[in-house]
This record gives sequence, C-alpha cells and structure tokens, in this order.
Amino acid sequence: MDAGKDVLAKSRSLPTKSPPTYDKGYWTGLKLVLEKYYVPSYLNILAPRMKVAYVDLFAGPGLNRIGEQKVPIPGSPLIPVAVRDPLKKHSFSRFIFSETEPEYSNALAARVALFPEMSAATQIIRQDANKVVELLPGILKEHQIGHCFVFVDPEGLEFKWNSMVSIVSKTNCDLLINFPSSGIQRNLQNPETVSAVQSFLGPGSENIPAGADEEWAIQLYRKNLAKIGKDVSTEITIKSGTAFHYHLIPAVKATYRGSPWFENIFPRAKEIIERLSGEVLGIIADQIDRRQGTLC
Ligand SMILES: C[S@@+](CC[C@H](N)C(=O)[O-])C[C@H]1O[C@@H](n2cnc3c(N)ncnc32)[C@H](O)[C@@H]1O
Repeated sequence: MDAGKDVLAKSRSLPTKSPPTYDKGYWTGLKLVLEKYYVPSYLNILAPRMKVAYVDLFAGPGLNRIGEQKVPIPGSPLIPVAVRDPLKKHSFSRFIFSETEPEYSNALAARVALFPEMSAATQIIRQDANKVVELLPGILKEHQIGHCFVFVDPEGLEFKWNSMVSIVSKTNCDLLINFPSSGIQRNLQNPETVSAVQSFLGPGSENIPAGADEEWAIQLYRKNLAKIGKDVSTEITIKSGTAFHYHLIPAVKATYRGSPWFENIFPRAKEIIERLSGEVLGIIADQIDRRQGTLC
C-alpha cells in the first residue's frame, strides 16, 4: 500500500496528470500480494546464476485503485521494482510487457519511466499476448536471458492453451497464472462460449463431461501443465467476498533438487491467502488510514 501511494504521488507529476488506473475490487490486491512474496525468492535463487526477465502478458496500466476506497496498489508490472523489499538482493535484467489497450499501455510506459532502474530495460508491446509469446524466444535470446518469471493475468479466457504450450516449450520459465474460475463455470453453461473454454483449457476438453464444473476445469488445466513439463503446481483460491472468485496457479518444473523456492513459498501462501477474502484489504486500508489520520 505504501508503494501504491508512492506510485500515485509520482504519477501526479506526469505531463498527463491522471493516466488511467485499473480499478477493481479489493480482491485484485491479493494476487499482487502473492507476486510480491514470490519475486524476492525467485530473484535470490536464479539471478546470481543467470540473467532473468519478468514477463507480464496482461500488464494493465501499472497502477490499480482497488475497492470502495480506491486504495492505490502498484500494478503487476511495477511490483518487482516499486515494492521495496529488504529480502530482495537481485534484480530482473529485462521487463517484457504486453497490453492491448492503447490508453493502458501509454499509462504503463509513463509509469515505468518513473523508475529509472527499470525504464531502460523495459519493452512494452501493444499486441495480443498470444502473439507476444511467439516473439518472446527471440527477445530473450537477444538479451541473453536464461530464465523468466511469467505472469498470466487475463480477465477471461484470452490466453489460449496453444500459447501456453509455446511459452513452456520455447523458454525456461516459472509461471503464475490467474485462472478465471467464475468465468469458466459461466461459460461452460453456455453452448456459444464452450469453444472458448476448450481453446483455453487444451487437450481433454474436447468432450466436456456432464456436470463438468470449475473443479474439473482446474484439475484438467493442471494436468495439462504437468504434461508439458510444469509438473509442480498448486491452486490458491481468491475469494472476493461475493460469488465471484478466481484461482492463482503457480506452476514450475521440478528440478533434480526438488523445487525448494516453490515449497518455501506457495504452501504457506495458500494457507494464509485462502483464509482471507478480498474485503480484508479494505479493512486493513481503513485501519492504516485511520491510524495515520490520528498520528497526523
Ligand atoms: C486483469 S487486467 C491486468 C491487471 C494487471 N495484471 C495488474 O494486476 O495490475 C488484464 C489486462 O489485459 C489487457 N488485455 C486484454 N486482452 C489482452 C490480450 N489479448 N493481450 C494483452 N493484453 C490484453 C486488458 O486491457 C487489461 O489491462
């Protein structure tokens, strides 16, 4: 939240006074909290051995204003740099973002420029993420990147299974996927949208069994991830406080040493985050602001 206030204050000095923000419910904050915890471990383990990149395929405008109180939180592209973390000893060498909405990609470019440590190393591509994955191997090679952390955060079913296969087969990467569970459940009921669900889920979804629900979809998706090499994964439920919810699926490849950073982070994060609903961020924001009000 401090980092969000900082990005908001810095954004006010931009020539375009109020570039757009991504304004959704408090629940959107929880995925960013998880990303915040993952980044230092990822960097501390891999960055001393090779150059690593952060790839955010559905990047947004770089600043979110969440919930009724419009609490500023750095958008996912800025989390690795805007959030100071004493545990983080290394940095990404390259940042690759895709965002199709011109207003958002311009706002993101303006906000990235506020952080000199990332601006020269950032590439924002205003194209469909499904196309950007085809460009990615070339970009990574050009910058001698050995491994990347890929965040896939669509609003719906935009990221096709074929694109997932492409990214996993052509790059060394860890994945954090926002799995749109409520959307899947809804789209499974509608004959007109079933084909979108199938191209999202991949093999095994050709014949949808009677009674198929989001649980069926998640298990199929994780099984498909395992088949293409991301054999260590979990699912973390994010509850909004209403019927709407989604899952986060972190997925990595088991190494000969096991997957220590995965084991160190995700089981514990799952336990903590699943106890919360998005509304908790609103309550915390309220308390922080009230406390700061009393202190001023
Ligand atoms: C859920 S929002 C991203 C929020 C952002 N990751 C964050 O947490 O701060 C999804 C974003 O993807 C963009 N988008 C939608 N379809 C896209 C596509 N096919 N390729 C790239 N970006 C897309 C939308 O404009 C929107 O900004």
